[in-house]
Amino acid sequence: MLVEKNVPLQPYNSFGIVAKALSLVRIGSEADLAAVLADPAQQAVPKFILGGGSNIVLTGDVKPLVLKVEIMGKRLVRETAKAFIVEAGAGENWHELVAWTLANGFPGMENLAMIPGSVGASPVQNIGAYGVELQDRFESLDAMDLQTGQTFTLDAAQCAFGYRDSVFKHASSAVAGGTATFGLAGRALITRVRFALPKAWKPVLGYADLDRKIAQTGEVPTTPQQIFDWICEIRRAKLPDPAVIGNAGSFFKNPTVSREQCDDIIQREPKIVHYPMADGSIKLAAGWLIEACGWKGKSVGNAAVYECQALVLINKGGSQNPVTGGEVMTLAKAIQTSVYERFGILLEHEPVVV
Ligand code: EPU
Repeated sequence: MLVEKNVPLQPYNSFGIVAKALSLVRIGSEADLAAVLADPAQQAVPKFILGGGSNIVLTGDVKPLVLKVEIMGKRLVRETAKAFIVEAGAGENWHELVAWTLANGFPGMENLAMIPGSVGASPVQNIGAYGVELQDRFESLDAMDLQTGQTFTLDAAQCAFGYRDSVFKHASSAVAGGTATFGLAGRALITRVRFALPKAWKPVLGYADLDRKIAQTGEVPTTPQQIFDWICEIRRAKLPDPAVIGNAGSFFKNPTVSREQCDDIIQREPKIVHYPMADGSIKLAAGWLIEACGWKGKSVGNAAVYECQALVLINKGGSQNPVTGGEVMTLAKAIQTSVYERFGILLEHEPVVV
């Protein structure tokens, strides 16, 4: 086991923020992780799991031992009557996995093309786009307990998926007199993820951006590859490529409010973009709220609100004069304050602040 010291993290976070890992171990296999956990010098040390680095804001050097997940491999593990079960190592790049599944005749993840990040991070926040969420294609995952070194497997129900949420985002808590909650945040490292890709493939259309494209072109996509190409085109037009402009995707979650709260806001803001959810609540478009508060294109230092999509904060200084985590969080807080003052809604940020 090699513990690297003072490792620059700029190449490993999609904002391109400059920071160091004081110590870092590359995890290429379950055995690598088992070796770290069996080492008495590392057992009690706090640990930080680094995947694709596409959902983090680094506000300084990282003091916990960084476990950089580099477990690779993509394969068809099984076939059932209804689905292909595909497995990928947690260190695989998400978009490359989506492209690989299509190339190998296992469609179903095309709507999730071009989401930055790694396979191992995908269940943590239940990534989703254009009408498909990870939980719709998830079969199971393997993980290792960071305290005991035990490996275990979770199915979808055990992952407790929600909108950009899972058991991996919550810590366990024993509430006196209340209900104890179970969580795995900081306690487990996801090593492999399996996906169930239905043999009876059906296109998932019906999302506003796709409908708009159908209306514009007069064409309806009929193959997985066509949808994949369309999604890539739509994302390129709206979202900055992290290889060119540093960012962490949507910086805030779309908030949900009750029907009553929504009606109240609509009276004051008739144009507010909102979507009714199956459980009766209403989801509001955070990008619309932020744009309505005049933030599009505004900046704090080298942190800016992206011109084409107000939900995305970017590093406008590039790699030469990069944004700092402090600038990103100052801008994020200013946005939260103004959205709260105007709409009475507190936006929750998506990335993990380290
Ligand atoms: N809108 C604005 N101004 C903006 C941005 C959006 O008015 O600056 C309005 C749009 O007009 C549209 C609505 O907000 O009516 C929704 O916008 P969009 O379809 O772009 O989706 P989103 O809600 O902003 C979510 C996900 C994205 C995902 C897209 C497509 C969240 C937090 N974000 O964005 O996910 O790609 O839907 O499905 O749920 C990510 O999580 O990193 C991410 C990019």
